[in-house]
Amino acid sequence: MHEITEYSNDHALFLAQLKALIEDEPDFLANMANMASLIYHTFDRLNWSGFYLLKDDQLVLGPFMGKPACTRIRLKDGVCGKAARTREVQNIVDVHAFEGHIACDSASNSELVIPIVEDDRLIGVLDIDSVDFGRFGPLDQSTMIEAVNILIKRKKG
Ligand code: SME
Repeated sequence: MHEITEYSNDHALFLAQLKALIEDEPDFLANMANMASLIYHTFDRLNWSGFYLLKDDQLVLGPFMGKPACTRIRLKDGVCGKAARTREVQNIVDVHAFEGHIACDSASNSELVIPIVEDDRLIGVLDIDSVDFGRFGPLDQSTMIEAVNILIKRKKG
């Protein structure tokens, strides 16, 4: 049994830095790229952070930091597919115990996936992987939901 660990990264500072990075830039692709990098470099023990965008009923790889990853995920597959299908956050303490988990990087042991919804339309997911089991606590989860909200708000102008 793996417990969720709370890490002491500065979540408030992360959100402030994200706002500062994207407030003057309207381009969604550029903002996703910087957000993926900021997450990767702010929080400990991550091995991947990035986006998959919904295109023709598949999730297609978007901007990310980390090792190369699978380019397409069907909605019926993986943690990302489940988050997209259900539009519910997936906080997976042990990915090896998740049936259908797609192991892009064998180093991943826990995963947090946030659905990205704009005007009631799913446009993709934010996916974050960690080498630790139970890496993502309630504060990580609420912070990433807030970060996605900031990104979407900026996209809409
Ligand atoms: N593990 C994900 C696939 C994407 S990679 O982690 C970057 C999944 O099961 O959907």
